[in-house]
Amino acid sequence: MDMEISIIGHGYVGLVTACVFADFGNKVHVIGRTPEKISRLRSGDPIIYEPGLEEILDRNLKNGNLEFSTTYDSIKNSEIVFIAVGTPSQADGSADLSQVKVVAKEIALALGESFTVVSCKSTVPVGTNRAVEKILTENAPAHAKFAVASCPEFLREGTGVSDTLSPDRVVIGTESKKAADLLLELHKPIGGQRVVCDLSSAEMIKYASNSMLATKISFANLIAEMSEVAGANAPLVLKAVGLDNRVGAKFLDAGIGYGGACFPKDVKALAFIGKDLGVDSSLLDQVEKINHNARERFAERIVKHAKGKVLAIWGLSFKPNTDDIREAPSIEIMKYLLKNGFSLRVYDPQAMGHIRRIFGDQLSYFDNKDDALAGSDNLVVLTEWSEFAAADLEEVKKVLKNPVIFDGRNVFDPEQMGKLGFEYYSVGRKDVK
Ligand SMILES: NC(=O)c1ccc[n+]([C@@H]2O[C@H](COP(=O)([O-])OP(=O)(O)OC[C@H]3O[C@@H](n4cnc5c(N)ncnc54)[C@H](O)[C@@H]3O)[C@@H](O)[C@H]2O)c1
Repeated sequence: MDMEISIIGHGYVGLVTACVFADFGNKVHVIGRTPEKISRLRSGDPIIYEPGLEEILDRNLKNGNLEFSTTYDSIKNSEIVFIAVGTPSQADGSADLSQVKVVAKEIALALGESFTVVSCKSTVPVGTNRAVEKILTENAPAHAKFAVASCPEFLREGTGVSDTLSPDRVVIGTESKKAADLLLELHKPIGGQRVVCDLSSAEMIKYASNSMLATKISFANLIAEMSEVAGANAPLVLKAVGLDNRVGAKFLDAGIGYGGACFPKDVKALAFIGKDLGVDSSLLDQVEKINHNARERFAERIVKHAKGKVLAIWGLSFKPNTDDIREAPSIEIMKYLLKNGFSLRVYDPQAMGHIRRIFGDQLSYFDNKDDALAGSDNLVVLTEWSEFAAADLEEVKKVLKNPVIFDGRNVFDPEQMGKLGFEYYSVGRKDVK
Protein backbone atom coordinates (compact mmCIF):
# COMPACT_ATOMS: atom_id res chain seq x y z
CA MET A 1 0.00 0.00 0.00
CA ASP A 2 1.50 3.37 -0.97
CA MET A 3 1.39 5.95 1.77
CA GLU A 4 1.55 9.70 2.11
CA ILE A 5 4.28 10.83 4.46
CA SER A 6 6.04 14.06 5.47
CA ILE A 7 9.63 14.47 6.55
CA ILE A 8 10.92 17.54 8.35
CA GLY A 9 14.56 18.27 7.53
CA HIS A 10 16.42 17.55 4.30
CA GLY A 11 19.91 16.76 5.62
CA TYR A 12 21.68 13.42 5.29
CA VAL A 13 18.90 11.55 7.10
CA GLY A 14 15.83 13.48 5.93
CA LEU A 15 16.68 13.64 2.23
CA VAL A 16 17.95 10.08 1.88
CA THR A 17 14.90 8.71 3.72
CA ALA A 18 12.57 10.84 1.59
CA CYS A 19 14.17 9.76 -1.69
CA VAL A 20 14.15 6.04 -0.81
CA PHE A 21 10.53 5.99 0.37
CA ALA A 22 9.44 8.04 -2.67
CA ASP A 23 11.22 5.53 -4.90
CA PHE A 24 8.99 2.79 -3.43
CA GLY A 25 5.96 4.68 -4.75
CA ASN A 26 4.95 6.58 -1.63
CA LYS A 27 4.00 10.25 -1.83
CA VAL A 28 6.68 12.04 0.19
CA HIS A 29 6.65 15.69 1.24
CA VAL A 30 9.87 17.20 2.56
CA ILE A 31 9.60 20.29 4.71
CA GLY A 32 12.52 22.71 5.15
CA ARG A 33 12.90 26.20 6.51
CA THR A 34 15.14 27.89 3.91
CA PRO A 35 13.38 28.92 0.65
CA GLU A 36 16.66 29.06 -1.29
CA LYS A 37 17.49 25.44 -0.37
CA ILE A 38 13.95 24.30 -1.16
CA SER A 39 14.25 25.79 -4.68
CA ARG A 40 17.59 24.03 -5.18
CA LEU A 41 16.05 20.72 -4.09
CA ARG A 42 13.07 21.27 -6.40
CA SER A 43 15.48 21.76 -9.28
CA GLY A 44 17.18 18.43 -8.51
CA ASP A 45 20.22 19.65 -6.54
CA PRO A 46 20.51 17.44 -3.40
CA ILE A 47 22.73 20.09 -1.71
CA ILE A 48 24.59 17.35 0.18
CA TYR A 49 26.77 14.72 -1.48
CA GLU A 50 25.66 11.12 -1.04
CA PRO A 51 26.44 8.48 -3.70
CA GLY A 52 23.40 7.68 -5.88
CA LEU A 53 21.17 10.28 -4.25
CA GLU A 54 20.99 12.76 -7.12
CA GLU A 55 19.59 10.15 -9.51
CA ILE A 56 16.83 9.06 -7.12
CA LEU A 57 15.98 12.68 -6.38
CA ASP A 58 15.72 13.46 -10.07
CA ARG A 59 13.58 10.37 -10.79
CA ASN A 60 11.10 11.11 -8.02
CA LEU A 61 10.82 14.82 -8.78
CA LYS A 62 9.91 13.85 -12.34
CA ASN A 63 7.35 11.19 -11.35
CA GLY A 64 5.81 13.54 -8.77
CA ASN A 65 6.39 11.27 -5.75
CA LEU A 66 8.63 13.84 -4.06
CA GLU A 67 7.72 17.40 -3.16
CA PHE A 68 9.56 20.09 -1.23
CA SER A 69 8.01 22.93 0.73
CA THR A 70 8.63 25.43 3.52
CA THR A 71 5.07 25.05 4.79
CA TYR A 72 3.48 22.34 6.90
CA ASP A 73 0.39 21.97 4.66
CA SER A 74 1.16 18.32 3.85
CA ILE A 75 0.91 17.25 7.51
CA LYS A 76 -2.88 17.09 7.51
CA ASN A 77 -2.90 14.31 4.92
CA SER A 78 0.18 12.43 6.11
CA GLU A 79 -0.14 9.04 7.75
CA ILE A 80 3.41 9.25 9.06
CA VAL A 81 5.52 12.32 9.85
CA PHE A 82 9.25 11.87 10.43
CA ILE A 83 11.26 14.45 12.33
CA ALA A 84 14.80 14.42 10.89
CA VAL A 85 16.26 17.69 12.18
CA GLY A 86 19.61 18.14 13.91
CA THR A 87 20.28 17.35 17.56
CA PRO A 88 23.73 18.90 18.07
CA SER A 89 25.82 18.86 21.24
CA GLN A 90 25.48 21.63 23.81
CA ALA A 91 28.51 22.88 25.76
CA ASP A 92 27.89 20.34 28.55
CA GLY A 93 27.68 17.43 26.07
CA SER A 94 23.89 17.04 26.28
CA ALA A 95 21.78 16.98 23.11
CA ASP A 96 20.27 20.29 22.03
CA LEU A 97 16.62 19.43 21.37
CA SER A 98 15.48 22.90 20.37
CA GLN A 99 15.06 22.02 16.66
CA VAL A 100 12.97 18.96 17.54
CA LYS A 101 10.72 20.98 19.85
CA VAL A 102 10.19 23.82 17.37
CA VAL A 103 9.23 21.33 14.68
CA ALA A 104 6.95 19.32 17.01
CA LYS A 105 4.92 22.44 17.68
CA GLU A 106 4.61 23.23 13.96
CA ILE A 107 3.46 19.66 13.30
CA ALA A 108 0.91 19.87 16.12
CA LEU A 109 -0.64 23.03 14.69
CA ALA A 110 -0.91 21.45 11.23
CA LEU A 111 -2.43 18.06 12.16
CA GLY A 112 -5.62 17.10 10.34
CA GLU A 113 -8.48 14.80 11.26
CA SER A 114 -6.99 11.49 10.15
CA PHE A 115 -4.68 9.41 12.35
CA THR A 116 -1.00 10.45 12.12
CA VAL A 117 2.14 8.82 13.50
CA VAL A 118 4.74 11.39 14.54
CA SER A 119 8.11 9.72 14.69
CA CYS A 120 11.61 10.98 15.54
CA LYS A 121 14.31 9.77 13.15
CA SER A 122 16.66 12.22 14.80
CA THR A 123 18.88 10.76 17.53
CA VAL A 124 17.29 11.87 20.79
CA PRO A 125 17.75 11.02 24.48
CA VAL A 126 15.32 8.86 26.40
CA GLY A 127 12.19 10.86 27.17
CA THR A 128 12.30 13.08 24.08
CA ASN A 129 9.45 11.37 22.26
CA ARG A 130 7.39 11.73 25.43
CA ALA A 131 8.21 15.46 25.35
CA VAL A 132 7.16 15.55 21.69
CA GLU A 133 3.89 13.83 22.66
CA LYS A 134 3.28 16.50 25.30
CA ILE A 135 3.93 19.31 22.77
CA LEU A 136 1.51 17.65 20.33
CA THR A 137 -1.15 17.21 23.01
CA GLU A 138 -0.85 20.82 24.15
CA ASN A 139 -0.89 22.37 20.67
CA ALA A 140 -2.88 20.07 18.35
CA PRO A 141 -6.44 20.97 17.38
CA ALA A 142 -9.15 19.06 19.28
CA HIS A 143 -10.00 16.86 16.27
CA ALA A 144 -6.40 15.58 15.85
CA LYS A 145 -5.66 11.87 16.33
CA PHE A 146 -2.00 10.93 16.66
CA ALA A 147 0.57 8.67 18.30
CA VAL A 148 4.29 9.14 18.74
CA ALA A 149 6.96 6.62 17.81
CA SER A 150 10.74 6.49 17.87
CA CYS A 151 12.25 5.22 14.63
CA PRO A 152 15.98 5.89 14.99
CA GLU A 153 18.10 6.05 11.86
CA PHE A 154 21.22 3.93 11.37
CA LEU A 155 22.38 5.00 7.90
CA ARG A 156 26.04 5.84 7.44
CA GLU A 157 27.06 8.86 5.40
CA GLY A 158 28.72 7.76 2.19
CA THR A 159 26.50 4.66 1.94
CA GLY A 160 23.26 6.34 3.02
CA VAL A 161 21.12 5.10 0.13
CA SER A 162 22.17 1.45 0.29
CA ASP A 163 22.03 1.47 4.10
CA THR A 164 18.46 2.76 3.97
CA LEU A 165 17.51 0.09 1.45
CA SER A 166 19.05 -2.75 3.42
CA PRO A 167 19.67 -1.86 7.05
CA ASP A 168 20.77 -4.46 9.62
CA ARG A 169 17.64 -3.64 11.60
CA VAL A 170 14.59 -1.39 11.67
CA VAL A 171 13.81 -0.21 15.19
CA ILE A 172 10.27 0.93 15.98
CA GLY A 173 9.53 2.13 19.48
CA THR A 174 5.97 2.99 20.33
CA GLU A 175 3.18 2.21 22.73
CA SER A 176 0.60 2.39 19.93
CA LYS A 177 -0.17 -0.81 17.99
CA LYS A 178 -1.68 1.26 15.17
CA ALA A 179 1.50 3.34 14.90
CA ALA A 180 3.71 0.23 14.90
CA ASP A 181 1.57 -1.36 12.16
CA LEU A 182 1.77 1.74 9.94
CA LEU A 183 5.55 1.97 10.36
CA LEU A 184 5.95 -1.76 9.68
CA GLU A 185 3.85 -1.34 6.54
CA LEU A 186 5.98 1.58 5.31
CA HIS A 187 9.20 -0.40 5.87
CA LYS A 188 7.86 -3.55 4.17
CA PRO A 189 10.04 -3.24 1.03
CA ILE A 190 13.14 -2.68 3.16
CA GLY A 191 15.39 -5.46 4.47
CA GLY A 192 16.74 -6.03 7.99
CA GLN A 193 15.38 -7.47 11.23
CA ARG A 194 12.49 -5.70 12.93
CA VAL A 195 12.83 -4.62 16.57
CA VAL A 196 9.48 -3.38 17.86
CA CYS A 197 9.80 -2.10 21.40
CA ASP A 198 8.89 0.62 23.87
CA LEU A 199 9.82 4.28 23.26
CA SER A 200 12.66 4.46 25.81
CA SER A 201 14.39 1.31 24.55
CA ALA A 202 14.26 2.58 20.95
CA GLU A 203 15.76 5.90 22.00
CA MET A 204 18.50 4.11 23.98
CA ILE A 205 19.29 1.61 21.17
CA LYS A 206 20.54 4.39 18.92
CA TYR A 207 22.92 5.95 21.48
CA ALA A 208 24.10 2.53 22.62
CA SER A 209 24.82 1.47 19.02
CA ASN A 210 26.86 4.55 18.12
CA SER A 211 28.72 4.50 21.43
CA MET A 212 29.58 0.82 20.96
CA LEU A 213 31.08 1.55 17.53
CA ALA A 214 32.99 4.58 18.83
CA THR A 215 34.29 2.45 21.71
CA LYS A 216 35.63 -0.13 19.25
CA ILE A 217 37.47 2.61 17.34
CA SER A 218 38.96 4.12 20.48
CA PHE A 219 39.95 0.66 21.72
CA ALA A 220 41.76 0.12 18.42
CA ASN A 221 43.53 3.45 18.82
CA LEU A 222 44.57 2.64 22.38
CA ILE A 223 46.10 -0.62 21.13
CA ALA A 224 47.73 1.37 18.29
CA GLU A 225 49.37 3.78 20.72
CA MET A 226 50.67 0.91 22.85
CA SER A 227 51.88 -0.95 19.75
CA GLU A 228 53.87 2.06 18.57
CA VAL A 229 55.75 2.12 21.89
CA ALA A 230 56.04 -1.67 22.21
CA GLY A 231 57.11 -2.24 18.61
CA ALA A 232 54.03 -4.37 17.81
CA ASN A 233 52.01 -4.17 14.60
CA ALA A 234 48.59 -2.82 15.62
CA PRO A 235 46.65 -3.63 12.41
CA LEU A 236 47.84 -7.23 12.64
CA VAL A 237 46.98 -7.42 16.36
CA LEU A 238 43.54 -5.95 15.69
CA LYS A 239 42.94 -8.23 12.73
CA ALA A 240 43.64 -11.23 14.95
CA VAL A 241 41.37 -9.83 17.67
CA GLY A 242 38.62 -9.29 15.12
CA LEU A 243 38.84 -12.87 13.89
CA ASP A 244 37.16 -13.86 17.15
CA ASN A 245 33.54 -13.89 16.03
CA ARG A 246 32.44 -12.56 19.41
CA VAL A 247 34.33 -9.35 18.51
CA GLY A 248 34.10 -9.03 14.70
CA ALA A 249 36.53 -7.29 12.38
CA LYS A 250 34.65 -4.07 11.67
CA PHE A 251 35.48 -0.76 13.35
CA LEU A 252 38.76 -2.09 14.72
CA ASP A 253 41.01 0.08 12.58
CA ALA A 254 43.85 2.15 13.98
CA GLY A 255 43.86 5.70 12.65
CA ILE A 256 43.24 9.30 13.60
CA GLY A 257 39.87 8.54 15.12
CA TYR A 258 36.20 9.05 14.43
CA GLY A 259 34.49 12.29 13.47
CA GLY A 260 31.26 13.30 11.77
CA ALA A 261 27.98 14.61 13.01
CA CYS A 262 27.07 11.50 15.02
CA PHE A 263 29.72 9.59 16.99
CA PRO A 264 31.31 12.57 18.80
CA LYS A 265 27.99 14.09 19.80
CA ASP A 266 26.29 10.78 20.62
CA VAL A 267 29.13 9.54 22.85
CA LYS A 268 29.07 12.87 24.71
CA ALA A 269 25.28 12.77 24.97
CA LEU A 270 25.23 9.20 26.34
CA ALA A 271 27.94 10.11 28.86
CA PHE A 272 25.77 13.06 29.91
CA ILE A 273 22.66 10.86 30.11
CA GLY A 274 24.60 8.44 32.37
CA LYS A 275 25.64 11.24 34.71
CA ASP A 276 22.11 12.57 34.72
CA LEU A 277 20.85 9.12 35.71
CA GLY A 278 23.48 8.85 38.48
CA VAL A 279 25.30 6.07 36.59
CA ASP A 280 29.11 6.07 36.23
CA SER A 281 29.61 6.59 32.49
CA SER A 282 33.32 7.48 32.63
CA LEU A 283 34.04 4.69 30.11
CA LEU A 284 32.49 6.99 27.51
CA ASP A 285 34.58 9.97 28.66
CA GLN A 286 37.68 7.85 28.00
CA VAL A 287 36.39 6.84 24.56
CA GLU A 288 36.15 10.54 23.71
CA LYS A 289 39.56 11.33 25.25
CA ILE A 290 41.35 8.54 23.34
CA ASN A 291 39.71 9.74 20.12
CA HIS A 292 41.01 13.23 20.69
CA ASN A 293 44.49 11.93 21.62
CA ALA A 294 44.71 9.96 18.36
CA ARG A 295 44.51 13.20 16.34
CA GLU A 296 46.82 15.08 18.64
CA ARG A 297 49.52 12.41 18.60
CA PHE A 298 49.44 12.21 14.81
CA ALA A 299 49.70 16.01 14.44
CA GLU A 300 52.62 16.09 16.88
CA ARG A 301 54.42 13.35 14.92
CA ILE A 302 54.10 15.43 11.75
CA VAL A 303 55.57 18.48 13.48
CA LYS A 304 58.42 16.36 14.87
CA HIS A 305 59.36 14.45 11.71
CA ALA A 306 58.41 16.69 8.76
CA LYS A 307 61.23 17.54 6.37
CA GLY A 308 60.19 20.96 5.10
CA LYS A 309 57.33 23.29 5.86
CA VAL A 310 55.07 22.76 2.83
CA LEU A 311 52.70 19.81 3.15
CA ALA A 312 50.26 18.30 0.68
CA ILE A 313 47.09 17.22 2.49
CA TRP A 314 45.04 14.44 0.86
CA GLY A 315 41.57 14.03 2.36
CA LEU A 316 39.54 16.47 4.44
CA SER A 317 36.12 14.87 4.95
CA PHE A 318 35.65 12.93 8.19
CA LYS A 319 35.53 9.71 6.18
CA PRO A 320 35.52 8.73 2.48
CA ASN A 321 32.53 9.09 0.13
CA THR A 322 31.03 12.09 1.90
CA ASP A 323 31.43 15.87 1.78
CA ASP A 324 30.76 16.09 5.51
CA ILE A 325 33.52 17.71 7.56
CA ARG A 326 31.65 18.04 10.85
CA GLU A 327 34.13 17.12 13.62
CA ALA A 328 36.55 15.86 10.95
CA PRO A 329 40.02 15.07 12.36
CA SER A 330 41.45 17.11 9.44
CA ILE A 331 40.21 20.37 10.98
CA GLU A 332 42.00 20.01 14.30
CA ILE A 333 45.14 18.60 12.69
CA MET A 334 45.38 21.37 10.09
CA LYS A 335 44.82 24.08 12.72
CA TYR A 336 47.72 22.61 14.70
CA LEU A 337 49.95 22.44 11.64
CA LEU A 338 49.16 26.05 10.68
CA LYS A 339 49.98 27.14 14.22
CA ASN A 340 53.32 25.42 13.82
CA GLY A 341 54.19 27.38 10.70
CA PHE A 342 53.35 24.87 7.93
CA SER A 343 51.86 25.82 4.55
CA LEU A 344 49.15 23.39 3.50
CA ARG A 345 48.20 22.46 -0.07
CA VAL A 346 44.90 20.62 0.27
CA TYR A 347 42.72 18.36 -1.86
CA ASP A 348 39.55 16.36 -1.18
CA PRO A 349 37.20 14.92 -3.84
CA GLN A 350 34.06 16.38 -2.18
CA ALA A 351 34.74 18.50 0.91
CA MET A 352 36.71 21.47 -0.46
CA GLY A 353 33.83 23.97 -0.32
CA HIS A 354 33.07 23.28 3.35
CA ILE A 355 36.75 23.44 4.34
CA ARG A 356 37.22 26.71 2.45
CA ARG A 357 34.39 28.25 4.49
CA ILE A 358 36.32 27.48 7.70
CA PHE A 359 39.92 28.15 6.67
CA GLY A 360 39.51 30.78 3.90
CA ASP A 361 42.88 31.86 2.51
CA GLN A 362 44.89 30.10 5.23
CA LEU A 363 45.12 27.04 2.91
CA SER A 364 45.97 26.55 -0.79
CA TYR A 365 43.20 24.59 -2.55
CA PHE A 366 43.68 22.24 -5.52
CA ASP A 367 41.29 20.43 -7.84
CA ASN A 368 43.19 17.16 -7.80
CA LYS A 369 45.68 15.27 -5.69
CA ASP A 370 48.58 15.69 -8.12
CA ASP A 371 48.39 19.49 -8.14
CA ALA A 372 48.32 19.50 -4.32
CA LEU A 373 51.44 17.37 -4.34
CA ALA A 374 53.44 19.52 -6.78
CA GLY A 375 55.63 21.93 -4.83
CA SER A 376 55.08 20.13 -1.50
CA ASP A 377 57.86 18.89 0.74
CA ASN A 378 55.92 15.96 2.28
CA LEU A 379 52.51 14.30 1.98
CA VAL A 380 49.89 13.84 4.73
CA VAL A 381 46.89 11.51 4.23
CA LEU A 382 43.91 12.27 6.46
CA THR A 383 40.98 10.48 4.76
CA GLU A 384 41.11 7.07 3.06
CA TRP A 385 39.44 7.95 -0.26
CA SER A 386 40.10 5.07 -2.66
CA GLU A 387 41.90 7.31 -5.17
CA PHE A 388 44.67 7.87 -2.62
CA ALA A 389 45.30 4.16 -2.10
CA ALA A 390 45.48 3.84 -5.90
CA ALA A 391 48.09 6.62 -6.27
CA ASP A 392 51.21 5.96 -8.33
CA LEU A 393 53.74 6.01 -5.49
CA GLU A 394 56.79 6.17 -7.77
CA GLU A 395 55.34 9.35 -9.24
CA VAL A 396 54.56 10.67 -5.73
CA LYS A 397 58.19 10.12 -4.82
CA LYS A 398 59.40 11.98 -7.90
CA VAL A 399 57.16 14.98 -7.26
CA LEU A 400 57.67 15.45 -3.49
CA LYS A 401 60.71 17.53 -2.56
CA ASN A 402 61.38 15.10 0.28
CA PRO A 403 59.88 11.61 0.12
CA VAL A 404 58.15 11.64 3.52
CA ILE A 405 54.56 10.46 3.99
CA PHE A 406 52.39 10.73 7.10
CA ASP A 407 49.52 8.30 6.72
CA GLY A 408 46.76 8.84 9.28
CA ARG A 409 44.59 6.05 7.85
CA ASN A 410 47.13 3.28 7.15
CA VAL A 411 46.34 3.48 3.44
CA PHE A 412 49.79 2.31 2.30
CA ASP A 413 51.85 -0.80 2.98
CA PRO A 414 54.97 -0.04 5.10
CA GLU A 415 57.03 -2.73 3.40
CA GLN A 416 56.32 -1.28 -0.03
CA MET A 417 57.04 2.23 1.25
CA GLY A 418 60.41 1.04 2.50
CA LYS A 419 61.24 -0.57 -0.83
CA LEU A 420 60.31 2.62 -2.68
CA GLY A 421 62.59 4.64 -0.42
CA PHE A 422 60.00 6.65 1.47
CA GLU A 423 60.26 7.78 5.06
CA TYR A 424 56.84 6.66 6.23
CA TYR A 425 54.82 7.27 9.39
CA SER A 426 51.51 5.48 9.93
CA VAL A 427 49.36 4.56 12.96
CA GLY A 428 50.21 1.67 15.27
CA ARG A 429 53.02 0.42 13.03
CA LYS A 430 56.81 0.86 13.06
CA ASP A 431 58.12 3.98 11.34
CA VAL A 432 59.89 3.34 8.05
CA LYS A 433 63.09 5.36 7.77
N1 LIG B 1 24.13 11.97 9.43
C1 LIG B 1 24.05 10.70 9.80
O1 LIG B 1 24.82 9.85 9.34
C2 LIG B 1 23.00 10.27 10.79
C3 LIG B 1 22.73 8.91 10.92
C4 LIG B 1 21.76 8.52 11.83
C5 LIG B 1 21.11 9.45 12.61
N2 LIG B 1 21.43 10.77 12.47
C6 LIG B 1 20.69 11.71 13.29
O2 LIG B 1 19.66 12.28 12.50
C7 LIG B 1 19.47 13.66 12.82
C8 LIG B 1 19.69 14.51 11.58
O3 LIG B 1 21.01 14.30 11.15
P1 LIG B 1 21.54 14.86 9.75
O4 LIG B 1 22.94 14.40 9.59
O5 LIG B 1 20.53 14.57 8.69
O6 LIG B 1 21.54 16.44 10.05
P2 LIG B 1 21.66 17.61 9.00
O7 LIG B 1 22.26 18.75 9.75
O8 LIG B 1 22.30 17.14 7.76
O9 LIG B 1 20.14 17.95 8.67
C9 LIG B 1 19.27 18.51 9.58
C10 LIG B 1 18.18 19.18 8.80
O10 LIG B 1 17.20 19.71 9.70
C11 LIG B 1 16.73 20.93 9.16
N3 LIG B 1 16.03 21.73 10.18
C12 LIG B 1 16.47 22.18 11.36
N4 LIG B 1 15.49 22.90 11.97
C13 LIG B 1 14.42 22.89 11.15
C14 LIG B 1 13.15 23.47 11.19
N5 LIG B 1 12.77 24.22 12.22
N6 LIG B 1 12.31 23.24 10.18
C15 LIG B 1 12.67 22.50 9.13
N7 LIG B 1 13.88 21.94 9.00
C16 LIG B 1 14.75 22.14 9.99
C17 LIG B 1 18.02 21.57 8.65
O11 LIG B 1 17.76 22.62 7.78
C18 LIG B 1 18.64 20.34 7.95
O12 LIG B 1 18.11 20.17 6.66
C19 LIG B 1 20.43 13.95 13.97
O13 LIG B 1 19.78 13.74 15.18
C20 LIG B 1 21.51 12.89 13.79
O14 LIG B 1 22.16 12.57 15.00
C21 LIG B 1 22.34 11.19 11.56
